Amino acid sequence: KPRVLSGITATGNLTIGNYIGALSVWAEEQDRYENFFFIADLHALTIPEAIRADDLRRRIREIVALYLACGLDPERSVLFLQSKVPAHATLGWIFDCVTPVSWLERMTQYKSKSQGANPSGGLLTYPALMAADILLYQAQFVPVGDDQRQHIELARDIANRFNSMFGDCFRIPDALIRKSGARIMGLDDPTSKMSKSKAETHEGHAIGLLDDPKKIRKAIMRAVTDAGSAVDRENLSPGVDNLLVLHEALSGATREETLDRFDGNGYGTLKKDLAELVLDKIAPIQTRFNEIHGETGYLEKVLSDGAEKAAEVADVTLNRAMELVGLR
Ligand code: TYM
Repeated sequence: KPRVLSGITATGNLTIGNYIGALSVWAEEQDRYENFFFIADLHALTIPEAIRADDLRRRIREIVALYLACGLDPERSVLFLQSKVPAHATLGWIFDCVTPVSWLERMTQYKSKSQGANPSGGLLTYPALMAADILLYQAQFVPVGDDQRQHIELARDIANRFNSMFGDCFRIPDALIRKSGARIMGLDDPTSKMSKSKAETHEGHAIGLLDDPKKIRKAIMRAVTDAGSAVDRENLSPGVDNLLVLHEALSGATREETLDRFDGNGYGTLKKDLAELVLDKIAPIQTRFNEIHGETGYLEKVLSDGAEKAAEVADVTLNRAMELVGLR
């Protein structure tokens, strides 16, 4: 089976964007691949001003429980924390040294997050660590949302550069990005991506996987649309399009089917229907989350088994890379 690897950074509460763009795809396709999924806790440190140690600890536990609640199965997927597999940081450093700063400065996420800030070195080298995450496992596919496309391109470039400088070591991975739903937009502003960090400060921006039903309904009913009042398939504004994308991603229907159903309907009807659909999806996830999260010892066991299995694979690649550069 081809190998996939992906992860989520432990900043903020996971949103329906993370679910649609990443988690749901990972869970649904588990039987097709050999799976490695991790929590990017090292990546959570890149904006040090935002670190609260207790929050980070709580969040990491929450995300693991959500992985399981969304259907990731420790029997079929290796689930682990990035910081528990030291090979990530070691190969990350080697990649820092192999990667021209100009490549890192070109990353759009760096450009937007560093604006007006006093960015840390880690924010700049973030994608080199991400390349290490992927390349350590010789992953063939990396299932992600659209915003990670450029980072995966860079991982390919780093792999090629290392391979040609030191000798063949890394498989060149491909991004796996769904056609519809790979970029869910903010409900409060359909021109910007729904983001878990923005959700912290902007009420009505996101649908959080752990939000209560009332809050979810309210966010959807208040979602920004346009001056019109009914869905017009010939003329879809970004806000209405985003609601349709959410609907089709969660129902599994095609755009044609979704439009046939809602064309000519008032925005209120679309929103009410979408809210019910979202709550139907999220309710069982929250129920499982509460069960798993409350159990003592279980998450710890999943993570320690996962780290052991992950390290077995990662260490083989790391040793080869270290040998090739002369560290062995
Ligand atoms: P992160 O934590 O920002 O997002 C996790 C996953 O969710 C996807 N996603 C979305 N998909 C659709 N619509 C949205 N609005 C939306 N927002 C987020 C992301 O594309 C991602 O797939 N750098 C990564 C974490 C990472 C990683 C890796 C991923 C670290 N190392 C190695 C893959 C492989 C990140 O910050 O994702």
